[in-house]
Amino acid sequence: MEMEMVSPARRRERDASGQCYTYNYGDCAYWDSRYLEEGGESNFDCYHRYSALRPFIRHFVPASSPILIIGCGNSLMSEDMVKDGYNDIINIDISSVVIEIMTRKCAHIPQLKYMQMDVRDMSFFHDESFNCIIDKGTLDSLMCCADAPLSAFQMLEEVSRIIKTGGIYMLITYGDPSARVPLLNNSGCKWKIMLYIIPRPGFQARGGCSSSKSIMEPIPLTDKGLLPADFVLEDPDSNYMYICKKIDESVEGVTDNVGVIAL
Ligand SMILES: C[S@@+](CC[C@H](N)C(=O)[O-])C[C@H]1O[C@@H](n2cnc3c(N)ncnc32)[C@H](O)[C@@H]1O
Repeated sequence: MEMEMVSPARRRERDASGQCYTYNYGDCAYWDSRYLEEGGESNFDCYHRYSALRPFIRHFVPASSPILIIGCGNSLMSEDMVKDGYNDIINIDISSVVIEIMTRKCAHIPQLKYMQMDVRDMSFFHDESFNCIIDKGTLDSLMCCADAPLSAFQMLEEVSRIIKTGGIYMLITYGDPSARVPLLNNSGCKWKIMLYIIPRPGFQARGGCSSSKSIMEPIPLTDKGLLPADFVLEDPDSNYMYICKKIDESVEGVTDNVGVIAL
């Protein structure tokens, strides 16, 4: 099943900082009971399936990279990635219920490992362990709990620590740059950020013709990390994909583009 985390109407219940107050998405008990209710039978893919993200992942992440998927839930993402040639993926989630379900379900796939872990404390992993960290809807979940700013900071600080210099944090989110770039810039490392906009699955522009731009064309950000003033979002329910490359701050005059990860 391909599902959005919240309906478009519900999205409007978020405030301008990209924080939402409606649900307990940051609460482990909420996810445990939701996964228990589903009983291990269904799959929930937040925002987009792998097929929609594949061009970006194939472009930026070599198949042999060690990859961490944070807040994996019961998404089909990592199984689809293995079918596509990726062979070293660790999946973590705060919900022990979903980790048990996925460990059982994927026991026959040696390329996948599932571990119960809170993204705010990933001390199990050494510094600079991963070439790529993928987050589809997990920072968004943390932005929906009472201590959202602190939780988001703790999570991003951990992401910055365990990702290799030159590695990529791929964030797929509902949060526009005014809500997400400040969080990224306050995470304890320097990122080179590229932004892409992905319309919701099946989106058709009014009148049937959508802009000729490819979704693979990055959207330029202003010096303040905002969308250009004249930018028009064709689909108001689009998601944002931030490709954040960890930059070596000790190297002066970094002009590095966000290219393929160096292994
Ligand atoms: C919106 S779902 C996204 C699931 C999956 N990434 C997808 O694409 O469908 C958010 C997931 O984040 C997990 N989560 C929430 N808070 C977390 C935390 N502090 N640490 C680890 N996982 C967390 C939830 O259990 C849930 O599975």
